[in-house]
Amino acid sequence: MLFDFADLAAEARYKLLVSTITPRPIAWVVSQDATGVLNAAPFSFFNAFAGDPPVVGIGIGSHKPGRPKDSRANIRETGQFVVNLVSEETAEAMNVTAIEFDHGVNELTQAGLTTLPSVRVKPPRIAESPVSMECELMQIVDLGSSNGLVLGRVLAMHIRDDAVIDAMKYYIDTPKLRLIGRMHGRAWYAHTSDLFEMPRIPVERWKKTSEFAEES
Ligand SMILES: Cc1cc2nc3c(=O)[nH]c(=O)nc-3n(C[C@H](O)[C@H](O)[C@H](O)COP(=O)(O)O)c2cc1C
Repeated sequence: MLFDFADLAAEARYKLLVSTITPRPIAWVVSQDATGVLNAAPFSFFNAFAGDPPVVGIGIGSHKPGRPKDSRANIRETGQFVVNLVSEETAEAMNVTAIEFDHGVNELTQAGLTTLPSVRVKPPRIAESPVSMECELMQIVDLGSSNGLVLGRVLAMHIRDDAVIDAMKYYIDTPKLRLIGRMHGRAWYAHTSDLFEMPRIPVERWKKTSEFAEES
């Protein structure tokens, strides 16, 4: 079925995007305002966009017109944030931090979480999270009047010790992190334990197979 976005309301377009672009990783963002008030919230319009420089991007909306979500306002104000990743063990705590509290309420305390100091930025990281990325703001791309794409450069990463297989070779035991992904609707999530392996195909090998379609 064709859905022409020109005919659709914003809410309908949003529903179509988030119920098909799945699973999405979740950036569990810790930021601070200029006075140091801590803030944490999850965002699934999130991914990595480059390795060199190492760039992550997060799409952050507004609570109402003219009032950007606290995370975006804080990042614009201070230029620093930490992206923590969400494991099965921390899923429920992440959900508590998504409650739309008033500015100034510490979501981390509400969720019973603890923090550890960061080494390169001022906002701390979530101690219970298996992976944390200390980031500095590169740019905020305004997307219309209510959304902004925050692009951040990763300055340092913390990975839980037991998930590091070989630190010299940067081998990480990814399945052991038991990270979750966000699925459709407001409440569905995915485990990342149903895996399959599919090696890449060198072009020379493909050309020798019967599948190779010779083009004139
Ligand atoms: C799993 C999950 C993913 C979310 N992803 C986004 C997102 O990508 N962008 C967004 O603006 N809000 C997203 N939200 C909603 C925010 O987390 C929520 O509005 C939060 O209260 C914002 O907090 P803040 O004002 O402290 O930044 C998401 C919520 C959940 C539970």
